[in-house]
Amino acid sequence: MNSITKTAQQNAELLQKDQQFVWHPYSSLSDPIPAYEVVSASGVYLKLADGRELIDGMSSWWCTIHGYNHPVLNQAAKDQIDRVSHVMFGGITHAPAVELCEKLVAITPSGLDKVFLSDSGSVAVEVAIKMAFQYWISQGQTQKSQLLTLRSGYHGDTFAAMSVCDPKTGMHHMFDQVVNKHHFAPAPQTGVYEEWNEEDIAEFTEIISTRSDQLAAVILEPIVQGAGGMRFYSPHYLKRVRELCDQHNVLLIADEIATGFGRSGKLFACEWAGISPDILCLGKAITGGTMSFAATLTTTEIATSISRGEASCFMHGPTFMANPLACAVANASLDLLEQNDWKAQVDGLNQALKQQLEPALKLEYVEDVRVLGAIGVVQVTDPVDLGRIQEMLVAEGVWVRPFGKLVYVMPPYVMSPQDLALLCQGMLRALTTYFKETHDGAH
Ligand SMILES: Cc1ncc(COP(=O)(O)O)c(C=O)c1O
Repeated sequence: MNSITKTAQQNAELLQKDQQFVWHPYSSLSDPIPAYEVVSASGVYLKLADGRELIDGMSSWWCTIHGYNHPVLNQAAKDQIDRVSHVMFGGITHAPAVELCEKLVAITPSGLDKVFLSDSGSVAVEVAIKMAFQYWISQGQTQKSQLLTLRSGYHGDTFAAMSVCDPKTGMHHMFDQVVNKHHFAPAPQTGVYEEWNEEDIAEFTEIISTRSDQLAAVILEPIVQGAGGMRFYSPHYLKRVRELCDQHNVLLIADEIATGFGRSGKLFACEWAGISPDILCLGKAITGGTMSFAATLTTTEIATSISRGEASCFMHGPTFMANPLACAVANASLDLLEQNDWKAQVDGLNQALKQQLEPALKLEYVEDVRVLGAIGVVQVTDPVDLGRIQEMLVAEGVWVRPFGKLVYVMPPYVMSPQDLALLCQGMLRALTTYFKETHDGAH
């Protein structure tokens, strides 16, 4: 690894300027909690400016599936930079984009044949929602302008995406009066391996059957509800949603921005239920975490109807659409997934996460432990103070970023069993120290 270690003074200066000028996600500028300067990263390790190395449990928010600084991904980027790093996509095409779209069509659930590339997950969700609306406009059904979604969902930070995040418990609840109003069914309660109970989808069924003339689409995160609660639910629920959408002539948008590319234990979480959505959103791990990029896939029928409609085209075109650099890296990342046998990697992590985390169920501050694919969640009894717990986690040599009562890991697929054990043990030790301190009122 490139060893750029800084003096304590250099480090302090940078952090002081960081606090002065820089806004971090979901953080205060007037009372910031400390940020940790990363100077380099390799494999599953993040190197801090003071020389410490942390084992990364977050894959940089679900993205870095092959680990950091991967030589194959780096080489793909370098090769593409020397050809062309960006060119507009209006009226121009290029091999990395064509290759990527062909690959995505081949590996995603059947029927998704057309690919629209964009720059980030939230934008892919905006594109999906707009596609659904424009489809119904092209069908002369302009009254189909509302969405149905699930509570505890999260779909991103832009406005259409915010409008389908949980309006009460979600991180955008304060915008409830600002965003467009849609319909929310209760979050599914039946667990992945639990026996199906049709009651679980009763309210959803009621809404879709009474409102189908206004509903353009259902949008949901299949099987794993991520940033809205780290909840896993029954494939049967998803199957029933598909059936109800067909029955009531409502499109189904699957947001697999977090789950796509193996994270849930299937290449795409829709495979748990053996269904295909009408529109699919992908992002995050698509470039192996190297850069921001996303895709929205749909069926030939929807694409054709939109193209024959009033506008004769889909009314969207981001400046950085199909950025060649991102496409080239995404192609290399998809090849790596196959070469590395992602399924064996994720199944191995699944077993190890269960082994490491399930014993924590007996700790008095732990409310629940759940593991699916390469996702491990420890739900604690009280929301944690992020700044304080982060200090303790870093002191243990691990990078984990909890929110609320959820302390969770989704490691890079390349993590060794030894590092996974160190990660989980470090995380649980930090939690024990934290709850002891909170309990003793020592801080
Ligand atoms: C399911 C889901 N959809 C959409 C998004 C938004 O993606 P981005 O942060 O790239 O805009 C996220 C991000 O966490 C997500 O988990």
